[in-house]
Amino acid sequence: MMRYAHVTGWGMAVPENVLTNHDLEQIVDTNDEWIISRTGIKERRIAAKDETTSSLALDAARRALSQTDLNPGDIQLIIVATASPDFIFPATACLVQDQLGAVNAGAFDLSAACTGFVYALNMAAQSIRSGSLDNALVIGAETLSRFVNWEDRNTCVLFGDGAGAFVLQASEKPGGLLSCVMRSDGSGGDLLSVPAGGSVLPATHETVDQNLHTIQMNGREVFRFATRVMASATKEAVDKAGLKLEDINLIIPHQANSRIIEAAARGIRMPMTQIVMNIERYGNTSTASIPIAICEALEDNRIKPGDNLVLVAFGGGLTWGALVLEWTEPEIRPISIWSRRRRKLLLLLARLRSFGLRLLRKLEGFIWGASSQEE
Ligand code: UT7
Repeated sequence: MMRYAHVTGWGMAVPENVLTNHDLEQIVDTNDEWIISRTGIKERRIAAKDETTSSLALDAARRALSQTDLNPGDIQLIIVATASPDFIFPATACLVQDQLGAVNAGAFDLSAACTGFVYALNMAAQSIRSGSLDNALVIGAETLSRFVNWEDRNTCVLFGDGAGAFVLQASEKPGGLLSCVMRSDGSGGDLLSVPAGGSVLPATHETVDQNLHTIQMNGREVFRFATRVMASATKEAVDKAGLKLEDINLIIPHQANSRIIEAAARGIRMPMTQIVMNIERYGNTSTASIPIAICEALEDNRIKPGDNLVLVAFGGGLTWGALVLEWTEPEIRPISIWSRRRRKLLLLLARLRSFGLRLLRKLEGFIWGASSQEE
């Protein structure tokens, strides 16, 4: 029996705080006209002090989950694709697992920079298609504002914060993820990186003084690479799905620069009406840009059941990839008001449970410490 992986829930979360191009004019030597004409960005969202990658991920995940018939305890896998995790470890996905109360889920982060969401969706879908999982929660979440050098006008105008999440579920009904291509070229790793904070350059006063914990980018080179791979990866994924470009209804590209998106559209001879672009309001949110764009396209009724979508991305690594997704009507299993309330209660209890577990661990450590001292 063939198994398919369908998207059955989706959700997004962005910080309320808006940073406009005019606001940026007060911070670095730039102007609204330059940013709009070179990037297409008008404003971006910036996380508040108490917001983190995991908190945005959690909000998006809750929204995605609320559209499905799954309780947190039913989730089998959580992948958070991110380039700005809460910590090097533990994984941001584990923080989400805890706060969600997904007590039966495996959880890990996936690091493929802006291509992360495409990679993660493919890995989750293949686990579902192989029969090893029945569902997965895939999240793209970022607080890149914490890794930007706010004195570098070449990069600080580009990035924004946000999160988007998909729930994938197994079904025998054909559709869902049809094909994917995942590529990389590590020889271009230095074109877009955060040089310090890893094992090569652990944090020192010097690395901090030299701003090496912030995003460094060779914009022109990344631009050239991106325009080359966006069209070719799209064509390859469509071909792999046994489809033609004419069969594609909508393309959802990674939102890094409107000029890159327009060049990719020209490369596949697709009119801009068939391309989703919302970069003007969010800037580049890395792994979150594709799921956020899809959530908004769904809100605007631009995606209908039966539509073939291409999700295509590129980013640091270098990495790039594209996948074809047949959008299917989620099987509407009526969710009663009681199960809705029950789920809300479960989410509330998850926080309490997390607190209880921490307390218990402390208590255990205390008792264990006292008994081992007696020996
Ligand atoms: O998810 C992947 C993340 N990265 C990307 O997608 C980045 C891809 N690259 C790009 O989007 C573009 O290369 C940029 C938007 C970063 C730059 O656009 P560009 O058209 O390639 O500009 P440029 O680097 O060729 O710079 C042109 C000029 C330079 O001045 P000079 O040297 O010609 O005098 C820059 O210093 O624009 C200057 N410039 C700015 N001016 C005003 C660079 N940033 C700014 C700025 N405001 N914010």
